[in-house]
Amino acid sequence: MNSRLPAILVTGGAGYVGSHTLVELLAAGYDVVCVDNFSNSSPEALRRVERIAGRAVRRVDGDIRDRSLLDLAFAAAPIEAVIHFAALKAVGESVLRPLDYYDNNVGGTICLLHACRRAGVKRFVFSSSATVYGIPQKLPLTEDMPLAPLNPYGATKLVNELLLRDLCASDPAMSVASLRYFNPIGAHPSGLIGEDPRDIPNNLFPFITQVAIGKRERLSVFGSDWPTRDGTGVRDYIHVVDLALGHVTALRYCARSTGFVPINLGTGRGTSVLELVKAFEEATARPVPYQIVGRRSGDIAECYADAGLALRLLQWRATRDVKEMCADGWRWQQGNPSGYS
Ligand code: NAD
Ligand code: UD1
Repeated sequence: MNSRLPAILVTGGAGYVGSHTLVELLAAGYDVVCVDNFSNSSPEALRRVERIAGRAVRRVDGDIRDRSLLDLAFAAAPIEAVIHFAALKAVGESVLRPLDYYDNNVGGTICLLHACRRAGVKRFVFSSSATVYGIPQKLPLTEDMPLAPLNPYGATKLVNELLLRDLCASDPAMSVASLRYFNPIGAHPSGLIGEDPRDIPNNLFPFITQVAIGKRERLSVFGSDWPTRDGTGVRDYIHVVDLALGHVTALRYCARSTGFVPINLGTGRGTSVLELVKAFEEATARPVPYQIVGRRSGDIAECYADAGLALRLLQWRATRDVKEMCADGWRWQQGNPSGYS
């Protein structure tokens, strides 16, 4: 169905970060068209987004590598900008299936950029990751630091950034914000949408909530001998709603600028594994039993952002603290013990 109102095309909008961003886009008055193949998500997330926002999400279901599907999506409304979340994101799986990761994450972006060109769309917000920095040489991480991803997943993010930078160099009207997320956790305060990992969670926070609800016996803490204040790994956890709001500000930035810019989205504060466990216990009054085990291969000791560029360019900063992340993530887990299914 065609509508005359300009809209934002969102790939991967049914996913964890995408669904929260759809809510904030709708709240900010944007119209949206969501393209998702539900390879790691459920259409139920989009129904929940509509419930929270009180507005409809236009859906074009399918794969971003399908040229005719993308043309349909770009014809659904006059598209003024694209936010590109769709990607595979499991680090361990990317090591086992690099071809699938490059095909989906790099091939998908190439198809999408061809479709943008056909439709004359010049504004593009990309989901990158702090994983592009690899082992930090200095902390906090600034956007100009060397990029050396440690696994195929991270490599696909870097290749996409290089592609987008080259594209901007070739077309002076193009505007791309590549948002390097640190560690998004938590959920929308309504408890209606949140992270819904399939199988055993790879990441710390969903593992903690599954232990707290009794789905898993205890958390394995990967190493207590890291060179950090308590020996456990330190990360920059960011509330997913703050991250979603960062995308709305990035869209506005792309409307008033041209060229390629990478921007860290983090809080600038590091939290250790044991500090996060404690904050969760305090915020939810639920115990999180844990045991210390060996280090996870490919891990780094510490990683947190210098979030100054986001403040300067986007006038954006994260405002929600770790306790709020825990309380909101727990509300989602309690209300949806089996996720969307
Ligand atoms: P997610 O898996 O929840 O969401 C990704 C969405 O994209 C899913 O709905 C999936 O079905 C869809 N998708 C994947 N391939 C597709 C394709 N070829 N065609 C159409 N749809 C497709 O992941 P997320 O956590 O919401 O992450 C969103 C983006 O942010 C990803 O690009 C991810 O790499 C990046 N990122 C995430 C994190 C994190 O910790 N969650 C950190 C840094 C970067
Ligand atoms: C992981 C990915 C990274 C990705 C990021 C966000 C790896 C090696 N890196 O990073 O590419 O961008 O997720 O999706 O997978 N931890 C435990 N027990 C657990 C799980 C994690 O102790 O069961 C520890 C880790 O060792 C780490 C911290 O918790 O110190 C955070 O881990 P995680 O949530 O997986 O995020 P990252 O390691 O930052």
